[in-house]
Amino acid sequence: MTKAIRIHRHGGPEVLQWEDIEVPPPAAGEARVHHTAIALNYSDINVRRGGFYTPKPLQMPLIPGNEAAGVVESVGSGVTEVKPGDRVAYVGVSGAFYNSTGAYAESRNVPAARLVKLPAAISDLQAAAMMVKGLTASAIVNRVYQPKPGDTILIHAAASGVGLILAQWSKHLGATVIGTVGSPDKAEIARANGCAHTILYRGTNFVDAVKQLTGRGVHAVFDGVGKDAFMPSLDCIRPYGMIVNYGNASGHVPPLDLILLAQKGGLSVSRPALSHYLSENDTLHRATAELFDLVARGILQITINHTYALKDAASAHRAVESRSTAGAVVLVP
Ligand SMILES: NC(=O)c1ccc[n+]([C@@H]2O[C@H](COP(=O)([O-])OP(=O)(O)OC[C@H]3O[C@@H](n4cnc5c(N)ncnc54)[C@H](OP(=O)(O)O)[C@@H]3O)[C@@H](O)[C@H]2O)c1
Repeated sequence: MTKAIRIHRHGGPEVLQWEDIEVPPPAAGEARVHHTAIALNYSDINVRRGGFYTPKPLQMPLIPGNEAAGVVESVGSGVTEVKPGDRVAYVGVSGAFYNSTGAYAESRNVPAARLVKLPAAISDLQAAAMMVKGLTASAIVNRVYQPKPGDTILIHAAASGVGLILAQWSKHLGATVIGTVGSPDKAEIARANGCAHTILYRGTNFVDAVKQLTGRGVHAVFDGVGKDAFMPSLDCIRPYGMIVNYGNASGHVPPLDLILLAQKGGLSVSRPALSHYLSENDTLHRATAELFDLVARGILQITINHTYALKDAASAHRAVESRSTAGAVVLVP
C-alpha cells in the first residue's frame, strides 16, 4: 500500500484527495520509482480543472502530475537502463501530458526508457523542478527561436517556472531580456535571473513600455500567459519577428486571423508542445544532458521558492492559481 493524491472528478483544489493506492510490481520494461520530489506544473491544474485540450473525458480516478525525481526500488524483466538504488527523474510516461499523469504518488511504475539518471551535481528537488520547465525552454531555444547577441526578447510571466529558465538562457545566449511580471517581488526575482528590464504588466500597458525600451520592438516574444498577453504582444514585435506561445496560464488564445500577421509586419507564430519535442529520437536524453550541464556550470539556476508536503497538494494548487508563486513549486512525499 502507498499513498497518492487522486481526483475522482474535475473541479477546484478541493477535489485533490490523499488516498491509499496499490502499486503492482513493475511489469516488463518498467522500474518502480520511490519519489523524493514531485513538480507541480500548470498542466496539473488544467488536468484537475478539466475541459482543457483533452479530446475525450479523462478516466477517473486519476493521479495528477507529469514529473518527479526519486530512487529506483525494483525493476521488471528486461530492464537494462537502470538498477535499484539509481537516482532518477522523468517527465511523462508517454504521449500528451493529460494521458501521462500519475506523479502525485509516493511511488509508481515508469517505463525504464523514460528515466534519466541524475548526476551528483543535480539534487532531487532541482531535477523535479527542471524537467518539464527546462525541457520546455529547451524546445523553444533549440527548435523554435534561438536568441542571439543583439536580440531583444520579451518574456511574459518572466518569474514563472518556465519564464525564469528562459530569461537566464536567453541572457546567456547574448540577448537583452525584457520580462513582464505580476508584482514588484517577482520583478526583483526576474532581474536576478537574467532580465535587464521588467514591466509590471498588471498596472502598466506593456506594449507602450516595450516600445519605449526598444523603439522598433523586440525580435521575439516568449509567451506562457496566453489569452491576456498574446494579441497585444503582436504590437511589441519588430517586422519579421516571432511570437512563441507555449502556454495559457490566463486562458486560451482566441483564433487568429493570419492576415493580422501580415499587417503587423510579416510576423511568425509558433505553438510548441513538449510532448512532440520528447517524441523525437533521443531528445529526452540529449536535452536533459544539456540542461544538467548548464545547471552544473551555474549558467541556469533552478529556483525552488516553494515546497509543500505531497498530501497538501491542494494548498500548492491554490498558491499557483492565485499567482503568488515564483519559480518552481515542488511537492515532497
Ligand atoms: N507547451 C508546453 O509543452 C508547455 C510545457 C510547460 C508549461 N507550459 C505552460 O506554460 C505556462 C507557464 O508554465 P509555468 O510552469 O511557468 O507556470 P507557473 O510557474 O505556474 O507560472 C504561471 C504564471 O503565469 C502568470 N499568469 C498570468 N495570468 C495568469 C492567470 N490568469 N492565472 C494564473 N497565472 C497567470 C503568473 O505570473 P505573473 O503574476 O507574473 O503574471 C503566474 O505566476 C502554463 O500555461 C503551462 O501550462 C506549456
